[in-house]
Amino acid sequence: MNSRVARTPKGRRAGMILVQSRATDDAVELNILVLPGDGIGTEVTREAVRVLERVADRFGHRLNLRRALLGGAAIRETGSPFPPETERLAREADATLMGAVGLPEFDAAPPERRPEKGLLALRRALGVYANLRPVRAYKALLDSSPLKNRLVEGADMLIVRELTGGLYYGTPRGVCGQGADERGVNTMTYTRAEIERVARVGFALARKRRRKLVSVDKSNVLETSQLWRRVVVEVSKDFPDVALEHLLVDNCAMQLITDPRRFDVLLTENLFGDILSDEAAVLAGSIGMLPSASIGDRRPSGAWAGLYEPVHGSAPDIAGRNLANPLGAIGSAAALLEYSFGLCEEAAAVNAAVEKVLDAGQVTADLRPQGSPFGTDAVGQAVASLI
Ligand code: IPM
Ligand code: MG
Repeated sequence: MNSRVARTPKGRRAGMILVQSRATDDAVELNILVLPGDGIGTEVTREAVRVLERVADRFGHRLNLRRALLGGAAIRETGSPFPPETERLAREADATLMGAVGLPEFDAAPPERRPEKGLLALRRALGVYANLRPVRAYKALLDSSPLKNRLVEGADMLIVRELTGGLYYGTPRGVCGQGADERGVNTMTYTRAEIERVARVGFALARKRRRKLVSVDKSNVLETSQLWRRVVVEVSKDFPDVALEHLLVDNCAMQLITDPRRFDVLLTENLFGDILSDEAAVLAGSIGMLPSASIGDRRPSGAWAGLYEPVHGSAPDIAGRNLANPLGAIGSAAALLEYSFGLCEEAAAVNAAVEKVLDAGQVTADLRPQGSPFGTDAVGQAVASLI
């Protein structure tokens, strides 16, 4: 890929949306914060780290890992889902690799003491407003999808989800009043600047792909969506080579299932993106397959803020049983190498190893309803051994 790249003070290239491979063979310092979080987050992150260690070893890079608490694990230890120490380490790191957050024991906790609040605060603190969620129907996994092979085969899309705005963060919010008047309030709000910056990411990425962008909104009802659509149209003028189409979110939800191959880049706001990405995971055979990269603006050093996390949640029902699919986390580690460090060859080596493991049928039970002898660790080891 070609594009703008920045040289960090250390002289290496920090790639991003518009990533370019590093030109030199210099060893790179990989200062990474690992936040395993809750539930299966710990297990899948362990495998992603195993893969990163292997990459560092094979390609001669130095891996400096630090670990910190996030989510329910952090509440238990410190009372806060996003302790100041975690924030400090995340700001210092070149990139953050996260597992998952959420535990049933906090389901009834007040909003500020919920694990998910920690993740939202982390995303905000890092300013990672664009969440990239690639969804591919791997040939080896066509039968793992409940959809017909002929519908799914060849599907390959990138969901670009706005990540630091909308209903997740809007105020006023809360629950007040009593009895029949008790009222819950959330606010969907977007500024022009918030829409514009994520739209630019979407269009730039479409340019690197099949040059088609579908912007998803609910502009027949919501004012925020009307502004969203207007701003996306304006941004599109700077990308005349990318074909822009608008879809209402309900219609999009249907077409993701009836005609998934029509999608290349799908650009949407925070909540719609959350919902549509779980739906799109059906195309990949399991939500355990989906990686994500969340990116923001450059830091003063020239490097990019980056947070990497699988799309799946903490799945407490299968936690600690070596059942979780680590490939979403491993794919997120590959994205970390590519986007935060410009290590495209290394990322490609990880992705190629994942494909080989899929082709060999070495997959966890989520992809094999009839059962699988491969646990989380075996799949992680298999990927690492092929790098
Ligand atoms: C996701 C998750 C999170 C979200 C939760 C855990 C807060 O569902 O990353 O898709 O809604 O963003
Ligand atoms: Mg989600």
